[in-house]
Amino acid sequence: MLVLTLLACAPEEDSGNPIVYAFPEGFRWGAAGAAHQIEGGNTNNNWYQFETLPEFAGKTVEPSGAGVDGYARYESDADLLVDLGADVYRLSIEWSRVEPERDVWDEAEWAHYLAVIEALRARGVEPMITLHHFTDPIWTYDLRDLECASGPTDTNMCGWTNPEVPAEFAEFAAEAARRFGHLVDEWTTFNEPGGYLLSGYLGGAFPPGEMNLSREDVGARILPVAAGMLDANAAAYASVKAADVIDADGDGIIARVGFTNSIQWILPADPDDPADVAAADRVRDLYGYLFPDAMINGLFDRDLDGVPEEEHPEWAGTCDLLGYQYYFRMYVISLPNFPPVEAVPCDATMLGLFGLDPAVLGCPDVHADDVTQMGYEHFSPGLGLLAPQMAERYPGTPLRVTEAGIATTSGQRRGESIVRQLAGLSEAIEAGSPVDGYIHWSLTDNFEWAHGYHPRFGLYTVDLDTFERTPTEGVDVFAQIIADNGIRRDLWEKYGEGDHLSPGE
Ligand code: BGC
Repeated sequence: MLVLTLLACAPEEDSGNPIVYAFPEGFRWGAAGAAHQIEGGNTNNNWYQFETLPEFAGKTVEPSGAGVDGYARYESDADLLVDLGADVYRLSIEWSRVEPERDVWDEAEWAHYLAVIEALRARGVEPMITLHHFTDPIWTYDLRDLECASGPTDTNMCGWTNPEVPAEFAEFAAEAARRFGHLVDEWTTFNEPGGYLLSGYLGGAFPPGEMNLSREDVGARILPVAAGMLDANAAAYASVKAADVIDADGDGIIARVGFTNSIQWILPADPDDPADVAAADRVRDLYGYLFPDAMINGLFDRDLDGVPEEEHPEWAGTCDLLGYQYYFRMYVISLPNFPPVEAVPCDATMLGLFGLDPAVLGCPDVHADDVTQMGYEHFSPGLGLLAPQMAERYPGTPLRVTEAGIATTSGQRRGESIVRQLAGLSEAIEAGSPVDGYIHWSLTDNFEWAHGYHPRFGLYTVDLDTFERTPTEGVDVFAQIIADNGIRRDLWEKYGEGDHLSPGE
């Protein structure tokens, strides 16, 4: 029915291959990457320590090593964006490169990022800069001394709960904005602070590898780290606004500063069980809303009861653009006494961290073809379904999809994922959700954190010996959608129909 409605108003309705899902004029199209995942040779941050120190052995399947040689290949990678027709590239600046020691700038590294940004601008691609994408300089929190035995020093500041660390982050942000403000108008402070927090301080899958599983630990450790990050966000927001005073491309935007939020499609494992329904709400509140509630409304749910009542006017209004990042459907089971919110997600990898088995807990079966290389369930409608949910909770805040993608080696599956997710997004926008763009994760294959290099998210796949980039079928599909600012009937017929992904890895 909806397809027919869109057909009727598509501009090329008589072409024989009309646009069946359209996007608004001026919709932004892009792809993303992140420094530590592509550059290689990032040896001065906590992830490098996590990958290489013996005490964290087994936490990651392999080290990031040479990355995908992204540090050296930034010009030819920028050409790939041109081939796609993308007008935005979301990239991160590696803080530990430009500030290898506290208050010491590395001019050669700043020059490198200037060259990267100039290469993008020279090709008509707008850089969207992320200041923190999961990695911290070692001097902010050294994994060799997590206890901070001798208290904070300039070489180990002991992490976000030391108020000097948010201040240092804001100084780095100001420096980036001062140096690049004439070329950059869109800034992201934190990438997925919720994922960073819960993976690093609850499940232990990210550095610093902490598992804070008692109720006391959650209050004493996890929430204070979140509060430190919120201080850092507010300080960086203010410092970027003050330092970037130039509209780089004359579009009226001088410095739009936001963050990107991981938010999945979360459902109760048993929709008829009120305990699971309430558990799913609690997980959604913690995982999806803790940070945006604080940054947009200045309200913090410190006791994690689902009601953000702690007032922080100093955090309010520190998000001009809410990026959302979607990858999977997640079922939730109520599990009394399991911190932090008496619930567990039906995700084999996450449950494995706690020695729990999804089948024993009663998690629903997932269709085998929908399981990706990441082990979770790809559910295409989620991307569109989430947009009205966030628009309703954060009225007045513009939204952008800043990441979505699939880990697969199958061109057909990647095409299906792109076409189906974007069809749902088109419907959501048509129905009024204020989403202004879509940025695909990711431009090339890359280092997928604890999973190493096995998951293949790239539109361009990378030979890990030669670093040669080869377009996947996803490039043809995405480039055609970008060129048409919509999905034509032939793409929909080839990739859109079907309740499940095609079989494949
Ligand atoms: C992160 C990326 C990651 C992607 C795919 C997002 O959570 O921002 O760094 O590679 O998901 O797992």
